[in-house]
Amino acid sequence: MSQKNVAILISGGGSNMVSLLESMAGDHPARPCLVLSNNADAGGLAKAAAAGVATAVVDHRPFHGDREAFEAELVKPIIKAGADIVCLAGFMRVLTAGFVSQFEGRMLNIHPSLLPKYKGLHTHARALEAGDTEHGCTVHEVTPLLDDGPLLGQARVLVKPGDTPDGLAARVLEQEHKLYPAVLRRFAAGDKTPVVLG
Ligand code: GAR
Repeated sequence: MSQKNVAILISGGGSNMVSLLESMAGDHPARPCLVLSNNADAGGLAKAAAAGVATAVVDHRPFHGDREAFEAELVKPIIKAGADIVCLAGFMRVLTAGFVSQFEGRMLNIHPSLLPKYKGLHTHARALEAGDTEHGCTVHEVTPLLDDGPLLGQARVLVKPGDTPDGLAARVLEQEHKLYPAVLRRFAAGDKTPVVLG
């Protein structure tokens, strides 16, 4: 089977992106073809370039909230790079149904909660406020609804007494770095069986 090309979309530091890049070596069924950001200042862009991966930026700001117009530009480098799979890794723009439908069944996202709990932002603070004893992260297929879509993997983290949102986030992020590569390896090989960690 031929290797799949993976485009990774980021907005910030890109630590999940780096863990995905590092995983795609040897007998892995995929290779990175592009790291794309909506933010030219995203720290992850330099990390991707240092790893020898092509990078591109499509800034959302000149589009003044016109999501369709932004996405019409965003899709171009993804197509040009020949991406078979698109991984959202800390990409902080909400995508329209039209964009998502172009990558139906081949776009993944990582979210810092045990979905379906805590869609959206501030997931760690919300888990603490709710008094949850466990928290974690999820990789799912992207569908038009935000933080929805078939689950491809979850990793659980125990909440400790006195946990702060930042402390909890750091432990969840450690799990994200294990979960996303494990899911991508399986997914790229054509297996959508959920990965369970922790
Ligand atoms: C990660 O915790 C990821 O799960 C989260 O942003 C962080 C990005 O970190 N994503 C979302 O909240 C998406 N709604 P990274 O840039 O170091 O990978």
